[in-house]
Amino acid sequence: MIRTLNMVENIASLNARFQTAAPGDILAWFAGQYPGNIAFSSSLGAEDQVITHLLSKIADPVKVFTLDTGRLFQETYDLLEITRVKYGMDIRIFFPESSAVEDMVNANGINLFYRSIELRRMCCHIRKKEPLIRALAGMEIWITGMRREQSVTRSEAKMIEWDPALPILKVNPLIDWSDDMVWEFIRTNHVPVSDLHSKGYPSIGCLPCTRQVAPGEEIRSGRWWWEMPRNKECGLHTKD
Ligand code: ADX
Ligand code: SF4
Repeated sequence: MIRTLNMVENIASLNARFQTAAPGDILAWFAGQYPGNIAFSSSLGAEDQVITHLLSKIADPVKVFTLDTGRLFQETYDLLEITRVKYGMDIRIFFPESSAVEDMVNANGINLFYRSIELRRMCCHIRKKEPLIRALAGMEIWITGMRREQSVTRSEAKMIEWDPALPILKVNPLIDWSDDMVWEFIRTNHVPVSDLHSKGYPSIGCLPCTRQVAPGEEIRSGRWWWEMPRNKECGLHTKD
């Protein structure tokens, strides 16, 4: 109980301390405090590319990894290679357990996710969440590119928050950034991004589960667009 209380107090004071700090300074501080125990999950999305760029300027190493679900866009694989070469960065790739994928698709079909929310969640769990848990094993800090503006499900997210399910301390350095701030940074710093962003895909996940959105539509409305009510989370960030 005392540990839990200390944790809550520590997280509150860290959030207060970094409230107005630049994302690069936040990343540098955590990288210095948790050598060997800090990891960044990159989907190669615009926000994640900003973080990758910032990490490339930091002296202390951070483990960078991506989750290859096996159903990503070719553009995402292309960007992975471009990013790895541009920044000279070892981006580790985590795959789902092959036998779990085989069992799932042989029992339910290759495109099971369109048939029910339960099957979609099963696919996300096997292809994303389980590899995430493996990628974060032994880590104390998990950096993500989440922003509050991305969806209503993220409007309460904090810059630094405890994920009790993993369990791990999550750091979201761009949590307060607007879309304009992300794109201004990308332009100014010549950060490589996916070609899909300029073709109507503000948020990019797996190919069969992501579609273009119309101007003015919510950023993540193209993700699992067929689901009603719209949950818009795959389970990586739901803390259950
Ligand atoms: S999610 O629903 O797919 O998790 P989103 O695409 O908005 O949401 O990504 C939010 C954050 O989750 C990213 O900034 C990244 O840290 C992490 N993430 C999402 N997908 C992946 C992936 N395939 N590989 C690594 N990290 C990912
Ligand atoms: Fe499966 Fe779609 Fe989830 Fe990707 S986004 S893991 S294809 S359900």
